Amino acid sequence: MSKCYITTPIYYSSGSVHIGNSYTTVACDALARYNRSMGRDTFYLTGMDEHGLKIAEAAEKAGISPQTFVDKIAEGTKTLWQNLKITNDYFIRTTDQNHVEAVQKIFEQLLKTGDIYLGSYQGNYCVSCEAYFPKSQLGEGDTCPDCGKPTKLISEECYFLNLKKYQKRLLEFIENHPDFIQPSTRRNEVISFIKGGLEDLCVSRTSFNWGISVPSNPKHVIYVWIDALSNYLTALGFMQEDDSLYQKYWVNNDHIYQIVGKDILRFHAIYWPIMLMALNVPINYKLYVHGWILNRDGKMSKSKGNIVYPMDIVNNYGVDALRYYLTKELPLGNDGLFSYERFFERYNNDLANDLGNLVSRTVSMVEKYFGGVVPTSCGHVTSFDEALETVCNENITKYQQKMEAFELQDALEAVWTIVRRANKYIDETAPWALSKDETKKEELASVMYHLVETLRIVAILVSPCLVESAPKILYSLGIENEPLNINGLCFGKEYKNIKVQKIEPLFKRLDVAVELEKVKKETPIPTAPKEEKKVSEITIDDFAKVNLQIGEIISSKRHENADKLLVSQIKIGDEVRQIVSGIAKNYKPEEIIGKKVIVVTNLKPVKIRGVESYGMVLCASNNDKLEIIEVKEVPSGSIVK
Ligand code: MSP
Repeated sequence: MSKCYITTPIYYSSGSVHIGNSYTTVACDALARYNRSMGRDTFYLTGMDEHGLKIAEAAEKAGISPQTFVDKIAEGTKTLWQNLKITNDYFIRTTDQNHVEAVQKIFEQLLKTGDIYLGSYQGNYCVSCEAYFPKSQLGEGDTCPDCGKPTKLISEECYFLNLKKYQKRLLEFIENHPDFIQPSTRRNEVISFIKGGLEDLCVSRTSFNWGISVPSNPKHVIYVWIDALSNYLTALGFMQEDDSLYQKYWVNNDHIYQIVGKDILRFHAIYWPIMLMALNVPINYKLYVHGWILNRDGKMSKSKGNIVYPMDIVNNYGVDALRYYLTKELPLGNDGLFSYERFFERYNNDLANDLGNLVSRTVSMVEKYFGGVVPTSCGHVTSFDEALETVCNENITKYQQKMEAFELQDALEAVWTIVRRANKYIDETAPWALSKDETKKEELASVMYHLVETLRIVAILVSPCLVESAPKILYSLGIENEPLNINGLCFGKEYKNIKVQKIEPLFKRLDVAVELEKVKKETPIPTAPKEEKKVSEITIDDFAKVNLQIGEIISSKRHENADKLLVSQIKIGDEVRQIVSGIAKNYKPEEIIGKKVIVVTNLKPVKIRGVESYGMVLCASNNDKLEIIEVKEVPSGSIVK
């Protein structure tokens, strides 16, 4: 029997899961259910990442021990996954004793092989991201370039993982395995990151102790990412007495999906395969990188007050509505949006109208015209029958291809192509007219058969996602014991004496205005699009009035009377100009020397705090972040157009 191993990232135990980060688990659950219904022996892993400073600090704030804190969060998360009907085969926690011991063995083995060595490190550490960042990447006030929170300057003796040693081998591996990282945009990002040169990674900490200690030097705790990444192997018994699951699902398996969000790409595409190389473990997995579910005002965060929790949706609209929205919203690789307006629109259009109506119309017509008994197949009576069957079979194939490639959005689109076609088929064949004509009895029977058979196929195809509705559809068709078997699924099942049953509407149509009102009352979440900032239009001639040229910064110093300003000498072709820029909070003078930047060269000269300025350097800004726009290849003096 073929096998399949699916993993989600393990969740930080620092807070509750919101609908954004519930995406990976819901999507992987659909993938796991699909693989099981393809007849694969499937192991689906998820769990919790419970060590590190972030969690220790959250526990301290809550006034409880870190262990009590993570126990609570783990229970809450397990309950959430049950409510979202997640069918994980194992739930790992990095505080599990067997995981702890296995990670210690992994670390000691890497020490023995020399892949980990002792050194010392000083750098700016972001507690929230559990990562060090070089000075050049920090934001204003030494904030983290990823999450914007303040970093801490930490100096410590530390163990390093020798990344440099594996840089070439990893690059070759990625280049020789084009489907290792998907989509290809993420693969390219990783390749250029590696080509930029890898620095050895600091993999232990001495500044706090909430973590797994290094057995041979217990004042060090193992870096949380080394601890966390190892879970994909330790959950299978790696470095433990019984490693049969590891042998089965990792070593002898070429169907391993590791699904991660784009923010943790580097860890899974660089550090993790290097760890595996150093441990002599085969790199069998394929990495699928998804984007984020965003709100209209960006990423969900407590501070923005824009978090939507999964149970808010499940309690009001059902688990299938949430699972459908998340799966349909996020194309592989790109970001998706959550807004209640969009959620209600999808719910009403796709679920209540397209699918729900197809089920209720079909059941009512079989009841009305055939006393509820589904007619047996009588081949194609009309070309409409044939066309519907073709659409079903073509889209079953497409669905399978898309599911295999973790393109869940497109897989669902294939199912909805069938659903929409079936609704159109009802309009084309007009059963109500056929029923009035005695000579059309066979045609009418064929239409009913085709609709029931189409719905059987639809129910089976949606079953990985719509876990409550699929069995309901099969029940209403009178075939509740139908196996959810996608492998070999095709149009043309014979029915003998099966009887349809009326059921409650699968998805009750929502009154959007009423629902939006309710949501506004219950949550502070902004539901309407923000008013667009009006930007007045200019013509190309207006734009041509601005002279833009490349200049190279040859020297720079702080303005004597203003701490936000730098005064720079910039070489533009043969000429050198003095330009004052408000970038001193983001850059030190010495950091910008040598940069080739874009300069507005025909700006009227001004005096800024007593210093002449002959132009302006272009920067990109995002609230308090400011970044100089640089070019690499073109020489100073070049025209920008
Ligand atoms: N603990 C690490 C993973 C260690 S894996 C060895 C972690 N945890 S997390 O809780 O922050 O994130 C879990 C997953 O949720 C990640 O894949 C992350 O990319 C994803 N998401 C977090 N916010 C998200 C959205 N708003 N939308 C979609 N996925 C998002 O990272």
